[in-house]
This record gives sequence, C-alpha cells and structure tokens, in this order.
Amino acid sequence: MTITVCPDGPLLVRGPAVVLDADGVDVPRERRTIALCRCGRTGSAPFCDGTHKVRPAGRS
Ligand code: FES
Repeated sequence: MTITVCPDGPLLVRGPAVVLDADGVDVPRERRTIALCRCGRTGSAPFCDGTHKVRPAGRS
C-alpha cells in the first residue's frame, strides 16, 4: 500500500487498505485507489469530493 500526500488536497491511498469509520465499521471502497479528505470540508466523508479545490483552506 502507498499513501501519497497531495498538496492542499487529499491523501491518495493505493493498495489493499481497509478504511474504518469512527466506530470501527468498515467503510466500503469502490475503487482501487481512494482519496481520503484531509481538509474536513468534503460532503462524502471520509472521501475527498473535490471541495478543497472549490473552497481552498482559509477561505469561506
Ligand atoms: S481534501 Fe478534497 S474535499 Fe477535503
């Protein structure tokens, strides 16, 4: 598995990682490569939905 940090964007996870929510429940993944939000503004947590591009950090 590799995790790539995208500048001002998500963490790209490639490989067989298991994603668990705060309660320890498996979050199904539909793609081999997933993007995990790290800006906190996504509408589809824990995955990035591209909102970080529309509303860059520090702007409302
Ligand atoms: S990193 Fe993309 S919406 Fe948060």
